[in-house]
Amino acid sequence: MRKAVIPVAGLGTRFLPATKATPKEMMPVVDKPAIQYVVEEAAAAGMDDLLFVTGRNKRALEDHFDENHELEAVLARKGSTALLAAARDPASLASIHYVRQGTPRGLGHAVACARIHVGDQPFAVLLGDDLIDPRDYILTRMAQVHERTGGSVIALMAVPPSEISLYGCAAVVPTAEADVVAVTDLVEKPPAGSAPSQYAIIGRYVLTPQVFDVLDQTSPGSGGEIQLTDALRVLAHRPVGSPGAGVTGVVFTGRRYDTGDKQSYLRSVVRIAVDRADLGPPLREYLRELVAGDFDTSHG
Ligand code: G1P
Repeated sequence: MRKAVIPVAGLGTRFLPATKATPKEMMPVVDKPAIQYVVEEAAAAGMDDLLFVTGRNKRALEDHFDENHELEAVLARKGSTALLAAARDPASLASIHYVRQGTPRGLGHAVACARIHVGDQPFAVLLGDDLIDPRDYILTRMAQVHERTGGSVIALMAVPPSEISLYGCAAVVPTAEADVVAVTDLVEKPPAGSAPSQYAIIGRYVLTPQVFDVLDQTSPGSGGEIQLTDALRVLAHRPVGSPGAGVTGVVFTGRRYDTGDKQSYLRSVVRIAVDRADLGPPLREYLRELVAGDFDTSHG
């Protein structure tokens, strides 16, 4: 599996005014835009052909993952080797392609826009808002499970009952492997109290190409949008042995942030920064003092 689809057409209204003229995916998490973590994750799982499903006002993404000769020349002249590498890195991670979604009609519609590029091979989908800590990558494990089952694979995470209605939710049964479950049903954003389990879909998928035909037949669902979860539900219910049948869940227990949510975004910045060798020690000290309430107004 070499292709991954990364939907990035969302407007990012939750972060206005920061996202008025800047795509939400370019919000920095320490010193890298959030989307670069996602691209690095795909590249680490061996995916070298990425398709961004974009919309209006996303040109900064194309510039970020392209070369910038002027900047590189300045850094090279100054002998700033580390900065030169940082500037070049994004363009070297993978071959990145773009398709425009036109009218944003939901995640299912965004994935459907990838059909011509993907063709008839299995592919990954990574949602730009979900940032998975580099120490806890799960995509390679999902690809292994797909190799074995031949069906689609979704990443699931147990969330508190109060949060499940923010997600797609899977009804599951255990398998012989502790981190793998068979998905028996799916529902997008179930009302609180009616969710079939505590397992939320997080934004990582390995999909079989049969999903495209199903998406073509999928009517708008939750929020009036064409939902990927609804198409996966059809595949989960297909009789065993028929094309594209079966959905399996891999249970994620690592560190994951929703960079589209302010609280979670702030945590991602702090969590990643405190663990960095170059930034962590003084920042930890600062946070300790801040929490202890030891600061007077002279502190920055
Ligand atoms: C999307 C999916 C949902 C999934 C979530 C993960 O929802 O539709 O099934 O649980 O991503 O982040 P969104 O967050 O775009 O509303």
